[in-house]
Amino acid sequence: MKLELPNIKILDEKNKILHQKSSEVTFPLSEKDKKNINDMLLYLKMSQIDEYNEKYHLRAGMGLAYPQIGILKRIFVIVEELEDHTFKNYVVINPKIKSQSEELIYVGEGEGCLSINREVDGIVPRSARITVEAYDMDGNIYTIRVREDIAVAFQHEIDHLNGILFVDRIDKKNPYKNQENMREI
Ligand code: NI
Repeated sequence: MKLELPNIKILDEKNKILHQKSSEVTFPLSEKDKKNINDMLLYLKMSQIDEYNEKYHLRAGMGLAYPQIGILKRIFVIVEELEDHTFKNYVVINPKIKSQSEELIYVGEGEGCLSINREVDGIVPRSARITVEAYDMDGNIYTIRVREDIAVAFQHEIDHLNGILFVDRIDKKNPYKNQENMREI
């Protein structure tokens, strides 16, 4: 089956929208929001499939938040490739972090963001495990506990909803500050 790349424009970090706080979403979602969410999921999935990644010159991405497509609403999506090469979709609306581990981790190769198109040095401290309460596309509340790379992705995307980019969390003077107190993933 051939997939068609959805028409999504991702804003660059220089855009002011990415530095603003998003608003809570009310239900039911509009048809436009449902389409945006499905487009974002498909875009991320295609970015992780070699064939499409090469054909459309995509950067592989795991997550996208609404502000990155220019809309200040508290919605983000994550697409995780599982070991059997199927994809797991997360649709997260109005998320609240209910608890987080004391243990901190960081991504050794550095975090990436589809809105940041440059090399960035430094580490971003994240909780190793978090529990989040959120709503799905139908407005049903759910609780999810995530860990490791998915926990990092959730925290990265929740930051987007608050106008925070991962580069903002890197200590400018000491980009590897406290590294010894965190676990690398
Ligand atoms: Ni990002």
